Amino acid sequence: MSADRVPVRAAVFLGPAEFRVEELLLDPPGPGEVSVRMLASGVCHSDLHVLDGDWERPAPVAMGHEGAGIVEALGPGVGAHPGSPAVGDLVVLAWTAPCGACPACVRGEAFLCADPRGAGHRRAAADVRLRRPDGTPVGVYSGIGTMATRQVVAAEAAIPVDPALPAAEAALLGCAVTTGVGAVTRTARVRGGETVVVIGLGGVGLSAVMGAVLAGAARIVAVDRVPAKLELARALGATDAVLAGGGPATRAELLRLVPGGTDHALEAIGLAATAELALEVVRPGGTVTLVGMTPQGVRAGIDVYTFVERGIRLLGSNYGSAVPAEVFPELAGHAVAGRLPVDLLVEQRIDLDDLAPAFEALRRGDGARRVVVFDLPA
Ligand SMILES: NC(=O)c1ccc[n+]([C@@H]2O[C@H](COP(=O)([O-])OP(=O)(O)OC[C@H]3O[C@@H](n4cnc5c(N)ncnc54)[C@H](O)[C@@H]3O)[C@@H](O)[C@H]2O)c1
Ligand SMILES: [Zn+2]
Ligand SMILES: [Zn+2]
Repeated sequence: MSADRVPVRAAVFLGPAEFRVEELLLDPPGPGEVSVRMLASGVCHSDLHVLDGDWERPAPVAMGHEGAGIVEALGPGVGAHPGSPAVGDLVVLAWTAPCGACPACVRGEAFLCADPRGAGHRRAAADVRLRRPDGTPVGVYSGIGTMATRQVVAAEAAIPVDPALPAAEAALLGCAVTTGVGAVTRTARVRGGETVVVIGLGGVGLSAVMGAVLAGAARIVAVDRVPAKLELARALGATDAVLAGGGPATRAELLRLVPGGTDHALEAIGLAATAELALEVVRPGGTVTLVGMTPQGVRAGIDVYTFVERGIRLLGSNYGSAVPAEVFPELAGHAVAGRLPVDLLVEQRIDLDDLAPAFEALRRGDGARRVVVFDLPA
């Protein structure tokens, strides 16, 4: 077995505030798995939450959950059914590979699967394919650990898409685009002619703006504290943009733009204050959709009397309420056809060794998505 192991370079989370790029060894795919040569991996704020210790996660774990690559080999039993990945396919990796059997999967809500393959970040002995040269097992974040030159993943996590899609854009379908577009189209179910406020314009919020355009929203108000983000949102189709100074001025400006309140408000940062802002700017009967994730344990306040009296609906949106096997190919089709300008989200292509400054930029809200590209020319 060990003769079949291949070398891998991966960004490994070592504990809060600590990571480094390591040389590791990867086993061939086991039953129901495929090996993937990674082409690109986005840097999502959820990776930063992990690095900053906002969420309790095990270590060592190969980081990253937003990536695309080429299938190199199939494990035993893969390829038996239509739609399953084949060698040479461009695949987008899903950070939830549904078990297919739990109540959520049976309901068609794969994004809420109770027992996804990759749960526990592939640290159980039977799931470990990645090791340090001394044999120490290394976990794989959400079962896909995309910040690595190669990975072995569950076949259900590798979704073939149109190979015409550039790899950096394909990678972003794996989290930001599916999350943001789906929050609008699937979770909130925005309809043509409605008004939408999107608070926070990172990869996720900008994708929500794209989703609102796809849904035919009449007015799309984009909010961020970084001016360049407002320009980007306008380029993606936002009709209005508000520079958030924080406090009541932002709320007043939003209510001036959407008198009486917006049909939909989406929060795509992960702050209690902006979740509360979203609740304050929807119309009676409107829908607030929370997409941004706070550190674990953070609570937001609701003025219960007003919330009830105004009949407001509050939704949480995980992975854009998407079934990746259906949604990735659909979104790839939109991108290839020019209906979803995912290319505008790619702020910069970077090397795996340049992750630290990319995380710093994410902290400042600087730029849309930085994407690690693995065959970056020297
Ligand atoms: N629900 C899900 O399934 C899901 C999936 C992916 C990411 N997320 C979460 O979504 C959030 C956003 O992710 P991202 O990668 O787009 O992050 P990001 O850091 O790229 O974007 C956040 C944006 O918010 C802006 N911002 C920060 N504080 C602000 C404030 N006080 N007022 C206005 N704007 C402010 C920043 O300038 C930045 O543009 C994160 O919490 C992430 O963990 C959730
Ligand atoms: Zn993400
Ligand atoms: Zn399930």
